[in-house]
Amino acid sequence: MKTIFFTGKGGVGKSTLAAAAAWQLAEKGYRVLTVSLDPAHNLGDIFGIKLHHRKKKFTSELYLQETDLEKAADEYIKNNMSIMKEVYGYLKTFNMDKYFSILKYSPGIEEYAALTSLEKILTKEEGCFDYIVFDTPPTGLTLHIFALPGVTLAWIERLIKIRKEILEKRYTIHNIKGKYIPEGVQLAYQEKDDKVIQKLYELQKRYEKVKSVLEGDDNSVSVVFNPDQLSLKESERLLEGLKELGLPVSHFFNNKLTEDNLKTAESVEAKLKKDNKSSTIKRIYYNDDNLSKGYMLNDDIAGLFIEQEGK
Ligand SMILES: Nc1ncnc2c1ncn2[C@@H]1O[C@H](COP(=O)(O)OP(=O)(O)OP(=O)(O)O)[C@@H](O)[C@H]1O
Ligand SMILES: [Mg+2]
Repeated sequence: MKTIFFTGKGGVGKSTLAAAAAWQLAEKGYRVLTVSLDPAHNLGDIFGIKLHHRKKKFTSELYLQETDLEKAADEYIKNNMSIMKEVYGYLKTFNMDKYFSILKYSPGIEEYAALTSLEKILTKEEGCFDYIVFDTPPTGLTLHIFALPGVTLAWIERLIKIRKEILEKRYTIHNIKGKYIPEGVQLAYQEKDDKVIQKLYELQKRYEKVKSVLEGDDNSVSVVFNPDQLSLKESERLLEGLKELGLPVSHFFNNKLTEDNLKTAESVEAKLKKDNKSSTIKRIYYNDDNLSKGYMLNDDIAGLFIEQEGK
């Protein structure tokens, strides 16, 4: 199963090209799922149907899904709160319920919600499709989502180390003092009995999976831009971020070309090409057919991803 991410600045055409790539791949007989990870979805609009946050069949080969990030954020917080309540139930003053509504708006929750959705989709749909095409939010949020598995894994590793030390110390104190905790409270001394460390191992496994998919050979990241200087500047920032994360760009899409912007298009392409010699650049001309279905671009987009097979 291959995964394709369309990234780029706001409004450059990520959703349109993701939709067109998915449509073309499905037309060639591949089983394709298109997923929007953007909180401001328009995948349904592009295909002219209503998507209710569930995977929906568009043709026999093509399925569409807009992830429900608000629900994912709620689930993420509720799930973590219930684990904490269960584990720290013996602390009578520990009451997180009152913070729920505030936590929803905490920085980073949207990114974690997107990452949780991504992880769920990758696990659930494994083997069901030949391609999963992801439409992503504009640059900043996408870079955060891509960075999260690595950042989270570093934290988890540290937390596992601390938890191990806690368990060891508990065990030592227990052996010295005997029964030192109140009636009815059971504290774990060993990893196999400790819900906290088990949860950390589970999270570690899940985030490692997402990281390995993102960094794997079956994943490709495309950057969409328009022939203008602002778009170039933001593409450069995006490329820097992707490079830091070790995610190479497979294709550039120079979208919305016209005769008027051809000169700028060439200079923008030349600048991007300089530091990214192994990536291909595909030009997509401004489509003024006023198509009611935005996914029906004439240019061949799918071909780029099929050619990669067997590499
Ligand atoms: N090649 C093209 N020719 C004509 N119009 C295009 C082309 N590509 C995209 N558009 C139009 O540009 C607008 C923005 O496109 P789109 O929604 O795909 O961008 P986006 O990068 O996904 O935006 P956002 O960052 O808001 O999600 C839409 O109106 C779309 O129809
Ligand atoms: Mg979009």
